[in-house]
Amino acid sequence: MKILLIGSGGREHALAWQLKKNPRVQLISAPGSSALAALGEIEQISPDNISGLVTLAKRKRPDLTIIGPEAPLVLGLADHLRAEGLAVFGPSSRAAQIEGSKVFAKDFMVRHNLPTANYAVFYDKEEAQQYLEGASYPLVLKADGLAQGKGVIICGKLEAALKAITELASLEAGRRILIEEYLAGEEISYFVLTDGRNIVPLPSAQDHKTIYDNDCGPNTGGMGAYCPAPLVTPTLERIILDTIIRPTVLGLATEGTPYSGLLYAGLMITLSGPKVLEFNARFGDPETQALMPLLKSDLAEICLAVAQGRLNEIEVEWENKTAATVVMSAEGYPGPYRQGDLITGLEEANSQPGVVVFEAGVERKMEGASFNSYTKGGRVLAVTAVNDDLPGAVDLAYEAVGKISWPGAHYRRDIGGKALRKSLLYDSGSD
Ligand code: AMP
Ligand code: GLY
Repeated sequence: MKILLIGSGGREHALAWQLKKNPRVQLISAPGSSALAALGEIEQISPDNISGLVTLAKRKRPDLTIIGPEAPLVLGLADHLRAEGLAVFGPSSRAAQIEGSKVFAKDFMVRHNLPTANYAVFYDKEEAQQYLEGASYPLVLKADGLAQGKGVIICGKLEAALKAITELASLEAGRRILIEEYLAGEEISYFVLTDGRNIVPLPSAQDHKTIYDNDCGPNTGGMGAYCPAPLVTPTLERIILDTIIRPTVLGLATEGTPYSGLLYAGLMITLSGPKVLEFNARFGDPETQALMPLLKSDLAEICLAVAQGRLNEIEVEWENKTAATVVMSAEGYPGPYRQGDLITGLEEANSQPGVVVFEAGVERKMEGASFNSYTKGGRVLAVTAVNDDLPGAVDLAYEAVGKISWPGAHYRRDIGGKALRKSLLYDSGSD
């Protein structure tokens, strides 16, 4: 099966690594990375060059295209490829608005009675400032469009909110601004596969958004994850499916924008139940790096079944284990970061049983008779370990992380910490 995979990050490396477990899969990645080049062909076409990607797909005629990042989805890549008669894993541009526009997503949530934070939309900075003067805090300010993680600012008081509004208004995505009620609770990433009618939930995951331990410092793309999340009990999962996921899939279909692909609900588990923070139209990063090593079924067959609207025909099986992923980033990230540093210990970490290293910002260069790896990105790599339980997975992941180094390498020391502390409390409480 010939598969075209769009993207170049750690998430795409994890998807490709899983796809290649099927020996019949022939992989082409665009734009790809050094790690993806080791698993197939790469074509250096950027994910937002839609006409370039369509031309590539027409030339290669893949049996399936899997679209990793959000930008090409929002720009309509799936629609163009479907118009060429090609099978695609990923939603149409209109359905991807659920991620592409926060105003669209919030209005949709209200129309379909989904639990979410109260909000107001502003088209004008002055009006937003007036509203902020009379508001109570904390509040959350959001730019409407895709802003690569820079579009959400949580403000504890008025001064911070007034500064944030100016910051957001200067972004391309900031022509419309949402001001949202702050939700307290614990965040989870809940993924389902859907072909527009059938829904298959995936094991839940938790991301770690901030750069420093104990959820301190600025937000990043994600510094670590574990899967499944012990917080998501069967009862909670039933509530999520009944009050959020099914109404969303049905609502999108009845509005004439059926959703096909991976639907990612970012949820806050509050004292009054799960509430939607955001929807994403794609796999999460780094959650996918924790999820993929647990998948027992054939990812290529699953994605093809989604693309062909026959998700009901397949079984999706998972290892009954836990995965923990620790992201290692370059010095300076999420601000301007160092690049070009030699990475040591990668092979040693990768060869540990139960460990796999997914590369996001790594460039492999042929030097003499062998490859050397250099940093080339903010989030450089993600170390995933699989074990029988969360403490085992976390320990193993950190053991492998300890083998990898480069100047200025940074990682959080507390991935999984909150869940581990809770399980300790629970264990001692039940004695
Ligand atoms: P979003 O892109 O909307 O998910 O926002 C990015 C991050 O900001 C989320 O993952 C949360 O950590 C935080 N966040 C967003 N909205 C809220 C909210 N209403 N209350 C509390 N935190 C939020
Ligand atoms: N893990 C956060 C995201 O993929 O958006």
